[in-house]
Amino acid sequence: MGNMFTTDDYNITAIRARFPSLTIKDNNINRIYLDNPGGTQVCKTSLDKIQDYLINNNANRGGFFRTSIDTESILLEARRAMSDFLHADSEREIVFGQNMTSLTFAIARSLAKWIQTEHEIVVTRLDHDGNISPWLQLADETGAKIRWIDFNPKDCTLDLDDFEKTITDKTKLVAIGYASNSVGTINPIKKIASMAHSVGALVFVDAVQYAPHAPIDVQELDADFLVCSPYKFFGPHQGVLWGKYELLDRLPPYKVRPAENHPPHKFETGTQSHEGQAGTLGALEHIEWIGRQFGHRHASQFPKMTNRCLHMHCGMAAIKTYEQKLSRHLIEGLQKISEVRIYGITKIQQLDKRVPTVSFTLKGYDPRHIAQIMGDKNIFVWDGHNYAIETMSQLGLEKTGGMIRVGPAHYNTIEELDQLLEVLTESVVKH
Ligand SMILES: Cc1ncc(COP(=O)(O)O)c(C=O)c1O
Repeated sequence: MGNMFTTDDYNITAIRARFPSLTIKDNNINRIYLDNPGGTQVCKTSLDKIQDYLINNNANRGGFFRTSIDTESILLEARRAMSDFLHADSEREIVFGQNMTSLTFAIARSLAKWIQTEHEIVVTRLDHDGNISPWLQLADETGAKIRWIDFNPKDCTLDLDDFEKTITDKTKLVAIGYASNSVGTINPIKKIASMAHSVGALVFVDAVQYAPHAPIDVQELDADFLVCSPYKFFGPHQGVLWGKYELLDRLPPYKVRPAENHPPHKFETGTQSHEGQAGTLGALEHIEWIGRQFGHRHASQFPKMTNRCLHMHCGMAAIKTYEQKLSRHLIEGLQKISEVRIYGITKIQQLDKRVPTVSFTLKGYDPRHIAQIMGDKNIFVWDGHNYAIETMSQLGLEKTGGMIRVGPAHYNTIEELDQLLEVLTESVVKH
């Protein structure tokens, strides 16, 4: 790779310096952002792109004047960068939208034309409701049947034998999360996609919680649709849908008559958030920068990729490697507290099968109470069901306040996790 890359050590100080919000203090106390599964902090390259767009290029599309022409080229570049991020075949497979949930409802509505009463839709109890409710409503409208896949409560992994039995020639769609937003499990998408395709079913992947933590290659996964949200990977509030071009082309959109009739625009209703797309481009430039700086040793994992696509994937691989250290530290630290029960994969040798989102309960304590204590110390964590209501219900936690969710991202440090663990042992358990 010669001088394509500069250094190779993951430099957390250099990475943190690219996030202005990480230095903010309240009453002289640092903020510890472990609320990342709900949305990450925004990097400087993204903030700059948003501001630059709104000052210098702000316009609607399709005009013959400077700002409109520049808008077209920025939006095209954002689409191309997203295509590289996902290793899509072309930027025409990238649809921007408000967020994952809105895009999923839109595709479900379009798919209603292809689904009939005798069909079945497979959903899992490990998913965020954004990848469940749209399909329940689709089934409701079409008369199709919903088939549920359970997970093993011991380590919160999906039951693949159950999948094998449930997917039949009646199955029209399999909706599956890439990584669980509540317990962090990574699901074997390639395997599940191949099972689904063997009976002619479509595969819709929710990669919202996976995208901030590891590289995605949609061609390798061979699913049909995949959604993610740039606000979970260091950009602004935005949603992105990838779909195989041939499918997007055939699928009927819900659109106004004068809007374009071809993908991706036919699915992008109304005026989009241009600043959001510009900010997404900036977030992806940050990931590319990580790849160029610290991704060298990962390049051999991506033999089919070149240029920006390769650098972004190396960046995400560097993030994944770093975050596994955070996962290990967090899990081992929590395991020292006898009252803690962690949900999800905890075996150190299986850390590559989970993202660093770690959820737990503390015997005798309401999760909300713990989150409040943490909040008082400026440590930001989540409590409750976090929209994974099926997961909570299968674990029997829906009536007891769900779980405490700690979600490190690539800019968090071991020291921050130590502070969280210290508050848990000193301020919570000892009192
Ligand atoms: C796994 C998962 N899917 C879907 C969503 C919903 O995403 P959005 O807010 O972009 O609609 C979230 C949000 O937290 C999520 O974690």
